[in-house]
Amino acid sequence: MQERAASSIETWDAFFSDFYLRAYADDERQSEADAQALAAARLAGCPAGGDVLDVPCGFGRHSVPLAGAGYHVVGVDRSEELLAEAGRRAGGARWPKLVRADYRELPFADESFDAALNLFTSLGYLGDEEDTRVLGEICRVLRPGGRLVIETMHRDLLVSQFREQDWRLMGKGRLLLERRTFDAAAGVAQTTQTLIDNTGARDSRSVSLRTYTATELVAMLTRAGFEEARCHGDLDGKPFATDTRLILVARRPDAAYAA
Ligand SMILES: C[S@@+](CC[C@H](N)C(=O)[O-])C[C@H]1O[C@@H](n2cnc3c(N)ncnc32)[C@H](O)[C@@H]1O
Repeated sequence: MQERAASSIETWDAFFSDFYLRAYADDERQSEADAQALAAARLAGCPAGGDVLDVPCGFGRHSVPLAGAGYHVVGVDRSEELLAEAGRRAGGARWPKLVRADYRELPFADESFDAALNLFTSLGYLGDEEDTRVLGEICRVLRPGGRLVIETMHRDLLVSQFREQDWRLMGKGRLLLERRTFDAAAGVAQTTQTLIDNTGARDSRSVSLRTYTATELVAMLTRAGFEEARCHGDLDGKPFATDTRLILVARRPDAAYAA
């Protein structure tokens, strides 16, 4: 039997494009994103005005409010279209700085940031090995003692809420239909999203996401060099359970003492 793997990078690039912007950028819940961004920075223990890496930053819905709150935010993403929208939202302000890069190779010196954020299910695109490499890169650019906050869907929640299809009303009267399958052996969820605009025009993309358990992600964080990975059920620190989102807070170890 052939197991399903996560989608190729080309498939993700075609998804995180104008298609993703049309689906999500006009969603009316920016105030929720503002609150999430600030709660995530607090959970990371980031000092006021500290250096924060938002990776990946998408169209800037967390980077922009964090910069507005005085953090020195750098947002990194692979998608030119999403970064252009983030730049538009930043409106020419000094912060956030927006950098186009692949998060497997972050273009920053070691120990550049006080905190790092990986929000809204932003791992699982590349499979276990490459995602561990991403976590290793984030660990490298954090200062000793700095924390990474991950906010994500996880396998227990996906399985407990699994629906083969549903639909949501998005901004500007657009309808987003989702059809799903789940390969339980591979831990890969395949979703076909169809966007229908208010003229009835349709556009579809299919993607396959490796959906980790909390246990798997904690093991990956340890392999990537983090310590003290703690699980929470939301960004305000409620207890983690099978029916909550997964928030992981992981710490880069303090510098080794050289005798
Ligand atoms: C679900 S979106 C979340 C973005 C943002 N954290 C938010 O909450 O709006 C995932 C993002 O990951 C980016 N991405 C996917 N693969 C990437 C890679 N290999 N390197 C950098 N960014 C990547 C996409 O372009 C997209 O913006």
